[in-house]
Amino acid sequence: MSGVERVERVAAACEGAPVGAIEVVDTIAGFRGHLDHVRREGRTVGLVPTMGYLHAGHVSLMERARDECDVVAVTIFVNPLQFAANEDLSSYPRDLPSDIARCEAAGVEVILAPDATEMYPRPVITTVSVADLGASMEGAARPTHFDGVATVVAKLFNIAGACRAYFGEKDFQQLAIVGRMAADLSFPVEVIGCPIVREVDGLALSSRNVNLTAEQRAAAPVLHRALQAGAGLVLAGETDPEVVATLVADIISAEPLAELDYADIVDPQTMTRPEVLAGELRLLAAARFGTPRLLDNLAVTAPTAGDAGGDAARTSDRW
Ligand code: PAJ
Repeated sequence: MSGVERVERVAAACEGAPVGAIEVVDTIAGFRGHLDHVRREGRTVGLVPTMGYLHAGHVSLMERARDECDVVAVTIFVNPLQFAANEDLSSYPRDLPSDIARCEAAGVEVILAPDATEMYPRPVITTVSVADLGASMEGAARPTHFDGVATVVAKLFNIAGACRAYFGEKDFQQLAIVGRMAADLSFPVEVIGCPIVREVDGLALSSRNVNLTAEQRAAAPVLHRALQAGAGLVLAGETDPEVVATLVADIISAEPLAELDYADIVDPQTMTRPEVLAGELRLLAAARFGTPRLLDNLAVTAPTAGDAGGDAARTSDRW
C-alpha cells in the first residue's frame, strides 16, 4: 500500500468517528455542513489550511485561531496542483493519526482530510492566478506553484465559508498572495499572518526538515544566519539591495551542503526589489540541502537618515 493510500484509508476510517472531541471528515460536504452549523449557532470560525505532518509552527496557527475564534477548523491536504512533475509530491511526509492527535491537543474541533479525488474529481481547468505577487522568487523558481496554491486555497475558502484564516509568515510570498486573492475576489475571509516558529538554532520549522540527513540538518541554519547578516547590513545603513542580496547569497553558497536557489530583499507589499532600501523590507532566501528545498525570510526596517544602528533600526520576524 502506498503512503497516500494508507493516509486515505485512515482518513476514511476516521470519518465521523469520535476521536476525543474532534471530528475528522473526508468530504467537502461534511466539512461545509459542520461549519455552516457552527455559524448558525453564532460561533466564529478560525481556519488553518495545512498539508499535514504537523509541527509546532502549524500548532502556533491553531493556537492563535483558538485565541481569536470560537471554533478552530484545520484542513490537511497534500495538494498535487502545487507540485510540479519533478517535485517531491510522493516523498512529502504524511502521518494523519499523529496529525489528528496534535490537532486534538491544540483544541481543534473539526478536520477536513480529503483525498485528491474528493478535491479534484475532474481535471482542473479553472485556476486562480495572482499575477504580480507570484512572479518573483518562489514563483520564478517554481512557475506553476502559486497557481496551484491560490486555486486550492480558493476552494478551501469556498468550502469553509466566512472565517478568519491563519497563515504563517514562513511562506511569506504565499501569505501575500492568499491575502491579495481573498481581497480581490471578495471572499468573506480575513487572512491573518502569524510569526515564524524556529528551532533553537534558528532553523524555521518545516514538514520537509524530516527529510534532511543529520549533516544537512546541521548545515540548514545557514539560511537564518545569512538573512540575519543581510539584516545587519541594512541596519548599518546599507541602501543598495544588490550588496545586501549578494552578502546573503555568498554566506549560503559558502556552505558546501547548500545549493542556493535565490536570495533577495524586497518591498513586502510588492515582492519586488526596490531601487534603494528604505522603510519596511523583507529578506528572503531558498536553498536545497540534498533533495529537501528549504525557505526562510526575515523582516527588517531600514534606519532613517542619520539613525543607522540606532533605536529606529530594527529587525524582527514580524512583518
Ligand atoms: P504547509 O506547508 O503545511 O503550511 C501550512 C501553514 O503553516 C502555512 O500557512 C505555513 O506558512 C505555516 N507554517 C509552516 N511552517 C511554519 C513555521 N515554522 N512557523 C509558522 N508557520 C508555519 O503552506 C502550505 O502547507 C500549503 O501551501 C497550503 C497553504 C496548505 C495550500 O496547500
